Amino acid sequence: MSPYAHITGWGMAVPARVLTNSDLEKMIDTDDEWIQTRTGIRQRHIVNDEESTATLAKDAALNALRVANLNPADVELIIVATSSPEHVFPATACLVQDRIGASRAGAFDLSAACSGFIYALDMATQAIRSGSLQNAVVIGAETLSRFVNWEDRNTCVLFGDGAGAFVLQAGDEPGGVLSAVLRSDGSGGDLLSLPAGGSFMPASAETILNKQHTIHMNGREVFRFATRVLVQATKEAVASAQLKISDVQLVIPHQANLRIIEAAMRGLEIPATQYFVNIERYGNTSTASIPIATCEAIQQGRLQAGDNMVFVGFGAGLTWGAALVRWTGPFLPYRHIYPTSYRMWVMIRSHLLRLVRRIEGWIWGRNI
Ligand code: ACO
Repeated sequence: MSPYAHITGWGMAVPARVLTNSDLEKMIDTDDEWIQTRTGIRQRHIVNDEESTATLAKDAALNALRVANLNPADVELIIVATSSPEHVFPATACLVQDRIGASRAGAFDLSAACSGFIYALDMATQAIRSGSLQNAVVIGAETLSRFVNWEDRNTCVLFGDGAGAFVLQAGDEPGGVLSAVLRSDGSGGDLLSLPAGGSFMPASAETILNKQHTIHMNGREVFRFATRVLVQATKEAVASAQLKISDVQLVIPHQANLRIIEAAMRGLEIPATQYFVNIERYGNTSTASIPIATCEAIQQGRLQAGDNMVFVGFGAGLTWGAALVRWTGPFLPYRHIYPTSYRMWVMIRSHLLRLVRRIEGWIWGRNI
């Protein structure tokens, strides 16, 4: 019998710096009331110069490993879902692998915009259910503040920075990620994009002048698309786990806009007590929004072992997806593991590996 993929650890990390709607009033022609009534957002967290997608991802991953009681050296796979990677390459996931000391892990980034976390969750689940892996760390991490045009009031009020992570582990007890629906429609790619900086439109003085390295969005079209697909994907994920909407205790939707969430939940006839919203404090953190919301739902006692829950999201691409999860909680091994205490060892290990590479290069260079 194939094993189940249980979510046994969770963690989040957001920058300390907060940008409120009244701060934005001083930067652009907007007001707190407009932002709150149109989006539900009151504030968002923004990285400082020392922080980046990889630092947030690393902190979230270590927090999740601590909850799961899993040693970083035992991690087999790291997926970072992100739309604001550290670089085009190397993958942000490889930087996280090095910084947490996951010496046996494969690592890659996944690009499906805000739906990326659900896509990554399903990829890790399938790897565990096929028997090829025992565990994986799935991370959603973003610093979209670095890709926002701070003069464009249509977009800059929406986004925030942050990261969230899950640990998935194989287990024989039924539960964990029971179904997932992943969908896309590239014909809507132009509705939400970051036009320049890729192979199609490489960076140039002109692209910088035209602000083509920032987020471009047709908000109304995205809004209409989002409310429709959130309903569809939730229904499909629930049905493919052979359940009914009434069997679901909690829905955690992507936190893009409170009005989108409320419209979709009305469409599904899900009452406010059964879906989770924290957009007012974080804005849209893209791939990080679902795991961050999950961490807060747990803190608030909204999730109990055995609950059926749905993660549902949408994003650029266009992409959308949903997953039905029977909540597990940590497997609780006997010994307690403190992944952060590996920090010193991990830094020494990384420096040693770099040193060995230099020595090897020197020896090989002399022999050529
Ligand atoms: N402050 C004040 N006024 C504003 C602001 C602002 N920050 N932004 C826009 N306005 C103005 C507009 O200019 C417009 O004025 P006009 O009528 O004189 O032209 C007016 O407000 C209304 O604009 P609308 O676009 O109709 O506003 P709407 O109610 O649609 O809300 C919003 C805009 C919030 C962007 C909404 O369309 C939305 O949330 N769309 C979905 C966006 C989304 O979820 N994106 C993320 C996808 S996930 C990912 O992959 C990144």
